[in-house]
Amino acid sequence: MINNTPVRAYSGSSHGLFISFEGIDGSGKSTQTKLLKERYPDAILTREPGGSAGAEEIRALLLTGDPDRWSAETEILLFTAARRDHLETTIIPALAAGKTIICDRFADSTRVYQGATRGTLRGAVDTLHDVMIGREPDLTFIIDMDPTVALSRGLARRSGEDRFEDMGLEFQETLRHGFLVLARDNPGRCVLIDGNRNPIEMAAEIALHVSNRMFAT
Ligand code: ADP
Ligand code: TYD
Repeated sequence: MINNTPVRAYSGSSHGLFISFEGIDGSGKSTQTKLLKERYPDAILTREPGGSAGAEEIRALLLTGDPDRWSAETEILLFTAARRDHLETTIIPALAAGKTIICDRFADSTRVYQGATRGTLRGAVDTLHDVMIGREPDLTFIIDMDPTVALSRGLARRSGEDRFEDMGLEFQETLRHGFLVLARDNPGRCVLIDGNRNPIEMAAEIALHVSNRMFAT
């Protein structure tokens, strides 16, 4: 029998600060999330796809293997399934307990990687987000970088999880543009960070925004 109970998206009635980091591959997100965690040792450092046991299993499906392994539609469903599990089991309980969440990628990555690179699917990404996720970070740092530089940084640390990094420079340029549009359209939530700088200088700027936001809430 079909269960007709409506699916509940999350409303956001929580207390900790939810911070995400976004940007193209190799832009320095992991570096900056770790530096922020050093400043806030009680915060929960997490990532997408992944961040919970179930979502880490889905991560392995998404990031390894042939670039054409999944159709675009299936890929959106897998990223959203991983996010829902991450939200239910890691993010919402931590925020409710008053913890700060530092998340390496969140829904903006799906909007840009799956939505902006395949224009016709952006509506599907947004609809699925509204129904299944319904929660935005309080603060999103979008690290902006020249993809040529970011790709050359990435080459030094290849892990086998490279379905998206294998898609080349033109793809990364499209992503960069998609993230810039998101930052422009969401000025209350998104802060654009110039990634072509010393990591310590970037971390100081990020920390200032975080403490201002914590003070404001
Ligand atoms: P991402 O998580 O966005 O893929 P990483 O933080 O893993 O990026 O950084 C990619 C590579 O670039 C790593 O080798 C890292 O040490 C290096 N890196 C990170 N930030 C900077 C920076 N501001 N300047 C130069 N190199 C950097
Ligand atoms: P990750 O190792 O986090 O990337 P990075 O190179 O930035 O350290 O791998 C995540 C990959 O998955 C990355 O290439 C972006 C992609 N991705 C999407 O395509 N859609 C999404 O919704 C998310 C969260 C990630």
